[in-house]
Amino acid sequence: MSVQISRDFRWVYGVSMPVTMSKRIQGVIAASGLFCASYVLPAYATGVKVYSSRCAACHKADGAGVPGQFPRLKGRVGKIAATKDGRTYLIHVLLFGLFGPIDVDGRQVRGMMPPMGTLGDQDVADTLNFAVELEKPKKAVAPFTAAEVKAVRDAGRLTASEVAKQRAELAAKGLVH
Ligand code: HEC
Repeated sequence: MSVQISRDFRWVYGVSMPVTMSKRIQGVIAASGLFCASYVLPAYATGVKVYSSRCAACHKADGAGVPGQFPRLKGRVGKIAATKDGRTYLIHVLLFGLFGPIDVDGRQVRGMMPPMGTLGDQDVADTLNFAVELEKPKKAVAPFTAAEVKAVRDAGRLTASEVAKQRAELAAKGLVH
């Protein structure tokens, strides 16, 4: 894991240290680096995991989707997430699915997104945050939180067709495109 960059220093997870430092101390520093990485990044890691196992089959690993069949998410979710109504809509799509003709990238999609309401609040938040991150550089929007997802979930259940109706209202206002 360590890369020798000079005779005297090595990089171990970004920490430079003299090669004379004992292997044991290097190990401790490397392990704490790993610990910090897993401590700082759990939301992103969970988002990747859920996205790749529950979303990528349709929307594709990079979020490009399939034109006319599965909506592109990359570069779109961050924009929809910029308003409160858009955020509620995105959470609704994940919890309750989406069923109804929609226009994406100038083409009509007549599909059915299955509800994913069995995902926990944190998983839904992490997955939406990951979907925002599909766009590089990432759109500057407030991250979704478990509390935000819970509030939307607690506000009541919708059918996938009702979510499509909600989308049509947002599209008319230019909040989803
Ligand atoms: C079985 C395929 C499938 C899977 C799996 C799937 N989706 Fe979808 N998704 C769709 C389809 C199809 C639509 C459009 C539905 C329609 O036409 O009414 C859609 C719509 C959406 C939309 C709304 C896009 C818009 O333009 O309004 C979002 C956001 C979304 N999906 C995110 C996700 C996320 C995140 C996951 C994983 C948790 C996921 N989808 C899993 C097929 C899928």
